[in-house]
Amino acid sequence: MPAITFARTVRYSTLALCAVVLMLSLFSMIAFGRGLPWFLLAGALLALGVHDLTQTRHAILRNYPVLGHLRFALEFIRPEIRQYFIESDTEAQPFSRAQRSVVYQRAKGDPDNRPFGTQLDVGAEGYEWINHSLHPTKIDSHDFRIWIGGRPGAPNAGDQSCTQPYSASVFNISAMSFGALSANAVLALNQGAKIGGFAHDTGEGSISQYHRVHGGDLIWEIGSGYFGCRNADGSFNPDRFAEQARESQVKMIELKLSQGAKPGHGGVLPGAKVTPEIAAARGVPVGVDCISPSAHSAFSTPAELMQFVARLRQLSGGKPTGFKLCIGHPWEWFAIVKAMLATGITPDFIVIDGAEGGTGAAPVEFTDHVGTPLQEGLRLAHNTLRGAGLRERIKLGCAGKVTNAFDIARMLALGADWCNSGRAFMMAVGCIQAQTCHTGRCPTGVTTQDPVRQRALVVADKAPRVAQFHANTLHALKELLQAAGLKHPDEVTMHHIVRRIDDAEVRLLSSLMPEVAPGAILQDLAHLPNVFRLYWPLADAHGFAPRTPAADEAPPDLRAVANSRKGNAPASAHEVAQQLRPRTPPEPPPETQVVPEQAPPPGSAPASPTDVPPSWRGSAPDEATSPAATAVDRAPDNY
Ligand SMILES: Cc1cc2nc3c(=O)[nH]c(=O)nc-3n(C[C@H](O)[C@H](O)[C@H](O)COP(=O)(O)O)c2cc1C
Ligand code: SF4
Repeated sequence: MPAITFARTVRYSTLALCAVVLMLSLFSMIAFGRGLPWFLLAGALLALGVHDLTQTRHAILRNYPVLGHLRFALEFIRPEIRQYFIESDTEAQPFSRAQRSVVYQRAKGDPDNRPFGTQLDVGAEGYEWINHSLHPTKIDSHDFRIWIGGRPGAPNAGDQSCTQPYSASVFNISAMSFGALSANAVLALNQGAKIGGFAHDTGEGSISQYHRVHGGDLIWEIGSGYFGCRNADGSFNPDRFAEQARESQVKMIELKLSQGAKPGHGGVLPGAKVTPEIAAARGVPVGVDCISPSAHSAFSTPAELMQFVARLRQLSGGKPTGFKLCIGHPWEWFAIVKAMLATGITPDFIVIDGAEGGTGAAPVEFTDHVGTPLQEGLRLAHNTLRGAGLRERIKLGCAGKVTNAFDIARMLALGADWCNSGRAFMMAVGCIQAQTCHTGRCPTGVTTQDPVRQRALVVADKAPRVAQFHANTLHALKELLQAAGLKHPDEVTMHHIVRRIDDAEVRLLSSLMPEVAPGAILQDLAHLPNVFRLYWPLADAHGFAPRTPAADEAPPDLRAVANSRKGNAPASAHEVAQQLRPRTPPEPPPETQVVPEQAPPPGSAPASPTDVPPSWRGSAPDEATSPAATAVDRAPDNY
């Protein structure tokens, strides 16, 4: 009994204190004519406490009136407390303080040298370094460039329809839409790209008025919503596409198949966020939900995808045209490569996005557990193109947490020709990794459409930072290459980079992730790693689904492998095909017996907790008896 009384005292102590202060200040005002501020403060807190006691949405406030707000305040500033006081310099969440600091320093042109030696644990598993040479080189310029889509007057072998090859920097701004980014962020990025002579990818939100102000080179990304080139029903409109694609500022066309942070998901920009400016850029009605479907409607097979790439290239007037994807099922990726072989059409470039990539917003399961990480995706893409004899015709770009020159060198070693960066360029325009991009309340004006918040981002100040970050990063890359005895980024290979395996062993990346010989998939499939042996035969240029390979397509060594295989691991592409064969639909499940308390009321049963009618939510007057109350209470943001 006394314990219960004590607990109650703690719970309501703040409220009681407010009441006492109110009374005392009232007395003081009457007796001495002083104490109005105290009276007002205590009165306001008392009113808040009474509201807390009577509201039904937050359990903690009902039990701890006034005091309970402390919890919300602390939770609100938790990320900043962690970031500024608790995180170590090398903890990555998703970017460590050390990674962010280098971006800020390079963007501002501040010194980026470190005193006293590395903070990294060079004995830790996974630690990597680039070997230096005893014969360093001297490179004149850090403005490293590559040709995409052939060279002027020397088109790529095979399909020769790219007539406007692009000389791209090896480091460019990754796709991020106007809508996800603020107008000021787009302006600063594009002006930075213009100053530094590199490319700015529009993201799937198409080309907005803000992309055009400064005239920086654009890569126009076309997503499944065909924004900027669509009909009213959301299908692709070739005339609208051609009109914008032929603008001189547009240097390349990128078809987005998927994005690492949420592959296969699609997206919705809620109607409330579809402002007139966003609507104008995308070619959609103002205030109506703007949907990016999870799949394209312009093609449905790998071969049709290639035809579409060729069509976009032709409509653009012969500009380099490629696609971006995060690698998923290997047989689907192989099907695309088979479609290149079958149709003779090759994209001018492919951008591989890693599962570790960023996004404006995505379900946590997708950001955490869907898609292939960049290292593995890039290796597979590079090796497949080599094995299919197509690598020379296609440039490979990549994106996924590239923030400094070593990251670039490492990706080039893994097979990329150039790197894109999204979030590092966001940091260059001021992002502090507060991670509230999806709320519209970005504290630095980078990812908000709120005009007042956007004022925080001063374009004239941030555009030069974008250019400086780019230039200083490439300068650092130049120094790395010189130290390694190389002359151009395309000379970095897996033989130059070493990884620690454990305390006693380090290995060259070249021995950990061997390279497939040119043409090997077509000539020597049986001796390639399992991912090729088992899944290449399943891939179909005319469908994304795996097919059952013909008997004579089985590599000859399969029987030998079958003898040595362990457990139930499949030995042949045939066996894999059997396992992947669509199952016959299961019997309809027996009708669920619903206990009366769980039964939804007659009429509309909610499909998920987020679909519950407003009257069922935690703020409903009679929470305890509401049928959905239990589900809602379990949601993490309800107390
Ligand atoms: C705010 C934001 C918006 C993005 N929007 C797009 C987009 O419209 N299209 C796309 O292909 N990728 C989009 N991405 C993914 C990036 O282009 C990039 O592929 C990914 O973030 C990996 O690069 P990073 O690790 O350097 O950020 C977006 C990323 C962010 C952070
Ligand atoms: S500051 Fe925060 S909210 Fe703004 S862009 Fe960066 S991570 Fe997103």
